[in-house]
Amino acid sequence: MARVVYVNGRYFPWGEARVHAEDRGFQFADAVYEVCEVRSGRLVDEARHMARLERSLEELHMPRPMSRAALARVLRETVRRNRVDDGLVYLQVSRGVAPRDFLFPAEGTPPTVVCLARSTSRAKAAARAERGIAVHTGPDTRWERCDIKTVMLLPASLAKEQARAAGASDAWFVDAAGYITEGASNNVWMVDTEGRLITRPADKDILRGVTRMTLIDLLKRERIELVERPFTVAEAKRAREVFITSATNILTPVVSIDGAPVANGVPGSMTSRLRGLFHDVAEVAD
Ligand code: PDD
Repeated sequence: MARVVYVNGRYFPWGEARVHAEDRGFQFADAVYEVCEVRSGRLVDEARHMARLERSLEELHMPRPMSRAALARVLRETVRRNRVDDGLVYLQVSRGVAPRDFLFPAEGTPPTVVCLARSTSRAKAAARAERGIAVHTGPDTRWERCDIKTVMLLPASLAKEQARAAGASDAWFVDAAGYITEGASNNVWMVDTEGRLITRPADKDILRGVTRMTLIDLLKRERIELVERPFTVAEAKRAREVFITSATNILTPVVSIDGAPVANGVPGSMTSRLRGLFHDVAEVAD
């Protein structure tokens, strides 16, 4: 099916969707984005994604491109025109187009808004979650504001390439003290031997994942104890279960870290159970 891309107020066939050569997103990675899960044609946790987008914009002193209601219409229309039933919708806002200059362009420069939607296979994702994934660790080479969801994704891209070269399917960043910060595009969790869930506090070193927030709601509902503290790669290797969360992964079990199996090397029951319950608590938009 032909894909359609929204760029600044119009929908273009995929091959004709263009942004200017002097877009600040292109020259300075001066842009923020969101990725929202689409499930049965509806957006999952849209309000949280929009709140995080607004925060990212504020932190970078970028104006909001349009009202939340108008953005909601763009997201829905992009999903509808691409006939996405299960998949994702991607929204990017850059500081707009201006002759190259490190300083911000004049106030009133219109932001660039791009929206894409893509179908994914729920069955394939489920099969992946049944197998579990292997991850590869490496130093966290990113900046100090990983809480802002910018398109400055080169460290993540390089880390994922290294992971692939090592035969793993995803990458984790590790800070200078040996603690895991997060995955290249997901948050990291472990289940300790007492059945508690451990995840790093959402400070400036990691992205406050929407899936992370919604999973915390689920943990409260299920009365599962949560401990927010950093943990090392060695601890994760010894954990009962390890998993990652993101809009595109929901909860996906990690069964090996740098070639060493986690527990008995198969996905854990807590991860599978929470994955199955996740959409009970996630907000689903009309
Ligand atoms: N990534 N940490 C990082 C560095 C991320 O890029 C993401 C999301 C997350 C998880 O956030 P959420 O639960 O809100 O998806 C954590 C998206 C999916 C991406 O870049 O494709």
